[in-house]
Amino acid sequence: MANPEMETRTIRNFSLDFEPYVLDVFAEQHKVGVLTFKSSMHCSFIYDDKWMLDGFDISPHINVGRDVEENDINRFIQNLLPEGTGLKCLLNAFNISRLSVSGMLNHVLGESAGILHFESRESVTPAYLELTSQMLSKRLDTFSNVVIWNNQFRLNVAGVQKKLNVHHKSDRSFWLANKEFPSTHIIKFAEEEHSTIILNELLCMRLAKAIGLEVASVELLRVFDSHGKSKHSAISIERFDREALSNGTIRKLHIIDGCQALNLLPEHKYEQIFGRHPDVAHCRDGASLKALFAFARQHEFSHQNVMQMLYWVAFNLVVGNSDAHGKNISFFMDINGISLAPFYDILSIVFEARRINNLDTDLAMAIGDEFDSSNITAFHLLSFAEEVDVTPTQLKTVVEQVALDCKRLATPVLCSDESMSKAELENLAQLIIMINQRADYFLHQTSLFDEVKKALL
Ligand SMILES: Nc1ncnc2c1ncn2[C@@H]1O[C@H](COP(=O)(O)OP(=O)(O)OP(=O)(O)O)[C@@H](O)[C@H]1O
Ligand SMILES: [Mg+2]
Repeated sequence: MANPEMETRTIRNFSLDFEPYVLDVFAEQHKVGVLTFKSSMHCSFIYDDKWMLDGFDISPHINVGRDVEENDINRFIQNLLPEGTGLKCLLNAFNISRLSVSGMLNHVLGESAGILHFESRESVTPAYLELTSQMLSKRLDTFSNVVIWNNQFRLNVAGVQKKLNVHHKSDRSFWLANKEFPSTHIIKFAEEEHSTIILNELLCMRLAKAIGLEVASVELLRVFDSHGKSKHSAISIERFDREALSNGTIRKLHIIDGCQALNLLPEHKYEQIFGRHPDVAHCRDGASLKALFAFARQHEFSHQNVMQMLYWVAFNLVVGNSDAHGKNISFFMDINGISLAPFYDILSIVFEARRINNLDTDLAMAIGDEFDSSNITAFHLLSFAEEVDVTPTQLKTVVEQVALDCKRLATPVLCSDESMSKAELENLAQLIIMINQRADYFLHQTSLFDEVKKALL
């Protein structure tokens, strides 16, 4: 049996041994503050004096001019870290513990979602390196990682899917970013057998734009090998937190995601924090639509922004994007306050689930109290309207408009600038059929609003 006295001594020694690890936090060339890790798991943060005079809050929970709670800065930082396969590569390649926030952050210092980057007092600047199609193709062929190049980890955004953030030059070449040339695009990859997921996201994102949602611009990318053959597809997504200036430099804009907005850990991006097992399904402390709309109202979002959020919810329902969780929505933050950022990561998970066994199609955030993406009824929609403080008529108008616009605009023309194989076109056609069916279903549900309201009285 372990000797408790020895154990305590070991733990004390461990914490005494940890030299504070200090990172300077910058917004482009301006110093924002200092982050100090007193253990690998916990950090504290203080704003720089000058930033306090003319800067802005980096999060609604980390305020200039107020003491920063350690829990708040820790949650904020954890939301910047990679997830999924990228995170696994990072942990394995550099032998880092999943619990070591400083260890992980140390490899993603150069950029983040938004304006911030971090500088360690002994950090090595990552190289600006061209990423050719052949280099990527080799990695994708052998199922190896796409995130470590020259022994440096180069992924600086969250998310589970295989991806990289890159600087896209006007000559259409892609480069691993550095301080001088920050990333302008995110490339998301798919293995050969899952290429439909790329076309799915391409169509849904373009459809969202066509019906009037503010969304990131997307393009299809074929990854060619040295023989000019393309086995792998990817989607290139333009970053909305970057702006190309006329002198060729890139300006960064600050964004926070829904988890940072709600002061939640990244693990709480799903409303049901422990999953949907009946024993724990009632634990709904994660990101929710109710909380996100309350946040929008608390920060006095414009009516147009609130309506965009409502259109986003309706669109996700119609296309079957059940995975719209707390990190799949973001907000701009600057000296003028907080506003809604364009949307991203929209694809039909319900459609993918037809091919991929056991793919979870439960809604990340409930409509009313319902998480089943194929069972949202007029009753759930009406409960949702009440929760987010919109009238049934407002919701009905939005859902109907989205459904009718999707029926009108969901056509292969949305992707006609991309060359596609017969099988890919057939796949898109199937997706469009499904979107039409779901649009009809939601039109029917909204037609039942008055009847259901009467029955509830
Ligand atoms: N166009 C964009 N501009 C700026 N930041 C973006 C953009 N698209 C995505 N991001 C950031 O990158 C992160 C990962 O992107 P995305 O959600 O598309 O990846 P994913 O791996 O598909 O995510 P998930 O884990 O939800 O499946 C987002 O959470 C967001 O912070
Ligand atoms: Mg995402």
